[in-house]
Amino acid sequence: MQCDNNQKILTTFLLVDIILTETIISSISQNAIDKNLSHANSAVGFSVAPMLDWTDKHCRYFHRKLSNQAWLYSEMVTTGALIYGNNLPRFLGHNDDEAPVVLQLGGSHSGELATCAKLGEEWGYSEINLNVGCPSDRVQNNMIGACLLGHPELVAENVAAMKAKVNIPVTVKTRIGIDDQEDFDILHNFVAGLVEADVDGVIIHARKAWLQGLSPKDNRDVPPLKYDWVHKIKQAFPNLDVAINGGITSHKQGLQHYQEYQGYPALDGVMLGRTAYEQPYILSEVDALYYGSQSQNFTREQVLQSMYPYIENHLKNGGKLSQVTRHMLGLFHGLPGGRMWRRHLSENAFKPTSGLEVVEQAYEMVSQEIQRMEDRV
Ligand SMILES: Cc1cc2nc3c(=O)[nH]c(=O)nc-3n(C[C@H](O)[C@H](O)[C@H](O)COP(=O)(O)O)c2cc1C
Repeated sequence: MQCDNNQKILTTFLLVDIILTETIISSISQNAIDKNLSHANSAVGFSVAPMLDWTDKHCRYFHRKLSNQAWLYSEMVTTGALIYGNNLPRFLGHNDDEAPVVLQLGGSHSGELATCAKLGEEWGYSEINLNVGCPSDRVQNNMIGACLLGHPELVAENVAAMKAKVNIPVTVKTRIGIDDQEDFDILHNFVAGLVEADVDGVIIHARKAWLQGLSPKDNRDVPPLKYDWVHKIKQAFPNLDVAINGGITSHKQGLQHYQEYQGYPALDGVMLGRTAYEQPYILSEVDALYYGSQSQNFTREQVLQSMYPYIENHLKNGGKLSQVTRHMLGLFHGLPGGRMWRRHLSENAFKPTSGLEVVEQAYEMVSQEIQRMEDRV
């Protein structure tokens, strides 16, 4: 009896929580929609973060099946790779259906950045973004990434050079500081230089980077998040489009930045990295929540099936199944059978002879597991 009562109370609490969450989301979401109608650059609305080795063209094609409007980013490409790598199709090739898609550049030589920005525009990218956030030793030695936070004039010059060369937006993705920089004014001055150079928007990963002593992976988790600093930047530069990134794991959290935060003004955009990659179905709500578009309400199965022609074409052109399916491992995240899906693909898709049947088998396992759970209820 006691157990029944507890169950009832728990169910009531859960229902109230769901209703409250939905009410909050729908009212904040309206703020987001009102702001995002212009859809001018990736600092406005919703974007999936640039992620090396993850957000390649196959990943972006898959993400586009889930959201028509999210801004998608390339992996970072260095100016050196583009200018001296002698393989533009490898670094810049993408599908037309990916738009709006941003090319993220790594570099700090204004002439080279301008040349590469132009290449990006010619290859059909919708925006150029400069990486001022990567803390890896390898890039630091070449004056790329987060170390540029120590060179605000140079970055402003870089932005001005790219702006002079292209007609698409130029944005910057940065951290809030490096090493022992603890002073908000340093970030403020950095952004002031970008504004002076007529940057179209900034995306701020709300933690600083330690250039020595932390791996790139630890640099994504260890330095504390300071969301208020990003909102303070918006307060200081009200006409600049400002998006927030770092540690956001749900739309409820993301949309909260469309409201005032600790007395500072609302932001213009939200960028998700790991959560979008690991739980891609979250992207299916982006169009409705951030842009007010009719949600397509595709089921996971429909999304999966919409990938079949692309996968078949990729295989026909000599590609490997795993090159596409490795980005789809999280599609059934949190559902019964989600682990079986992931395991079957991980263990089989890399084999040279693997074809679409491996995906169909994995999906069959998921559907059987879901059916089994439904029969139990
Ligand atoms: C595997 C991986 C690769 C990344 N590569 C890049 C990159 O090429 N350029 C960049 O600006 N940030 C890169 N990042 C950082 C992300 O863009 C993002 O700023 C970071 O993951 C924090 O956002 P999140 O907490 O939503 O994941 C990478 C992150 C991951 C997990």
